[in-house]
Amino acid sequence: MPERRESETSGREDVADVRAYLAAQENKSLLRFLTCGSVDDGKSTLIGRLLADTRQIFEDQLAALAHDSRRHGTTGDEVDFALLVDGLEAEREQGITIDVAYRFFATPARKFIVADTPGHEQYTRNMATGASTADLAIVLIDARQGVLRQTRRHTVIASLLGIRHIVLAVNKIDLVGFDRDVFERIVADYCAFADGLGFSSIQPVPLSARYGDNVCDRSQRTPWYDGPTLLSHLETVPVDAEAAALPFRFPVQYVSRPDLDFRGFAGTIASGTVAPGDGVVVAKSGLASRVRRIVTHGGDLDVAVAGQAVTLVLEDELEVARGNMLVTPSDRPEVADQFAANLVWFDEHALMPGRNYILRTATDQASATVTDLKHRIDINDFSHEAAKSLAMNEAGVVNISTRMPIAFDPFAQNRATGAFILIDPLTNATVGAGMILHGLRRAQNIHWQSLDVDRRARADLKHQKPVMLWFTGLSGSGKSTIANLLERKLHAAGRHTYLLDGDNVRHGLNRDLGFIEADRVENIRRVAEVGRLMVDAGLIVLVSFISPFRAERRMARELMPAGDFVEVFVDTPFEECARRDPKGLYARALKGEIKNFTGVDSPYEPPEAPEIHLRTLGRSPEDMVDVLDRWLAARHLGEETDGNDSGR
Ligand code: ADX
Repeated sequence: MPERRESETSGREDVADVRAYLAAQENKSLLRFLTCGSVDDGKSTLIGRLLADTRQIFEDQLAALAHDSRRHGTTGDEVDFALLVDGLEAEREQGITIDVAYRFFATPARKFIVADTPGHEQYTRNMATGASTADLAIVLIDARQGVLRQTRRHTVIASLLGIRHIVLAVNKIDLVGFDRDVFERIVADYCAFADGLGFSSIQPVPLSARYGDNVCDRSQRTPWYDGPTLLSHLETVPVDAEAAALPFRFPVQYVSRPDLDFRGFAGTIASGTVAPGDGVVVAKSGLASRVRRIVTHGGDLDVAVAGQAVTLVLEDELEVARGNMLVTPSDRPEVADQFAANLVWFDEHALMPGRNYILRTATDQASATVTDLKHRIDINDFSHEAAKSLAMNEAGVVNISTRMPIAFDPFAQNRATGAFILIDPLTNATVGAGMILHGLRRAQNIHWQSLDVDRRARADLKHQKPVMLWFTGLSGSGKSTIANLLERKLHAAGRHTYLLDGDNVRHGLNRDLGFIEADRVENIRRVAEVGRLMVDAGLIVLVSFISPFRAERRMARELMPAGDFVEVFVDTPFEECARRDPKGLYARALKGEIKNFTGVDSPYEPPEAPEIHLRTLGRSPEDMVDVLDRWLAARHLGEETDGNDSGR
């Protein structure tokens, strides 16, 4: 900013200058990028160098840095730029939850936002968070090491997340004597693999983040290199400013209703443009109206574009719940509850098809499961391999089903409305990121059929209240014995029952399943669905499965209306089960002859709040059945009803 402070009247000019300066900033294009690589590759040093050489660091910070570098640095008398970034990182770590820091800087040519992601174990998760909005990725390579497995992984993830441009930063070129052959070999290696991934550009740059060669200033020590410096490439790479050119999408964040006369929909335009008079429809319901006003803090607008936060006032009173989208009537998003997607998995605990996760899009949220893992993607050669689950840092192509339909565009057409994350409902951790490929047509062709004889009618005829009693516990804990006794008693009293027993169901419906985690998840999913149908048929259903995982017991519970799912924890200590060993399985499992045996080398997660907790030690199965009987009687379950109050 120019300095002008001579005259009294210059105050107003100063304001004009500030305005001009801000306007110039406004009109500059914005490049969002991220750096991929570990701390050892020089990531922090590179970001520090970029900030310093573009004068983003204030002089006093630089002085402090020079001082610290002499004390702690690894660079002798040189300034250690990594200390700068790492220092900020330490500060950030005290904030606990922020995984990605966004740094802002600007040059006369362009504004930049760099997503700075800590380079530890959970790196992929942070990288994906940063990458989902980035236009460009700087893939850092240590010139001494060349292309590594993680280089490939980061590149594949960048391509899956829709990043268009890659800078291959061959760092530490000083440590290989500025050798052209080394550089060219690395570039050839990298391109042999990355050329097939569909990037718009791959720009290799030989550089030294520590000494600044080819970062902002052209190096004299790489005379053989005639490409751009890193900064000049970042300043000129074409940013696909296409978000504004896409169809109008407006995720509604909340309904603004300050008084009875005003009702507007607040949010940030995800893509396209909008002007008063434009027609809009609600994505999921198809209800239509027109835009009357575009309200902002600074007054009404004649037009608004992607990226702007606005409140839209419509001509008509429309129901638009939070999570829905206002869209252009001429080009609407898909609305479906089943779709195919690319999925990148971040969590230490592998993805389990059939398990419930929370799927969150830019607009919406729904309970979701991966119904099919079609294949895993090998990150070395991008080939497909069969798999039952995705481990941390693996990627694959999946089918996903959501409990409620969501509105979306294929990711290839619209990054803002085609991306989602998966969240573990038990831990609240973000466990995966996905890119929607397309809706599944089969979902459009299957509808709910309404049936005249319903659950209530079926239950009335049996004069009983249907319920699902879910017995969980270790193998040999007594589940089946107790469930069997209880069923006999109920049956003798004239109740209509069915006992679904793990061993029996595994002989038929679930004979294709073994005991690895993914199979147990599917085992429980199927039996929960079958049990639900049986409750719907009016039966009292007893389910006796080890069902070792909380997530699946919770899934079964959520399938049922509140109160219809009764969790019975058959709590027998491991030592006692192993001592009884009715099938001789413990002896074999402890010798290592049976793998993945519950309690031995496969976990059992005890219920945290079961409706009924049966501590079996020193008590007979008959005692346990009495406890159950009393519990049921107190709630009028398992009793005969007069047929009038049974439907609930
Ligand atoms: S679950 O974990 O998927 O719920 P399920 O109840 O269907 O298990 O089956 C458990 C029964 O399978 C046990 O009672 C036991 O007889 C038998 N079984 C065979 N192998 C194993 C194993 N590795 N772990 C547990 N049970 C096993």
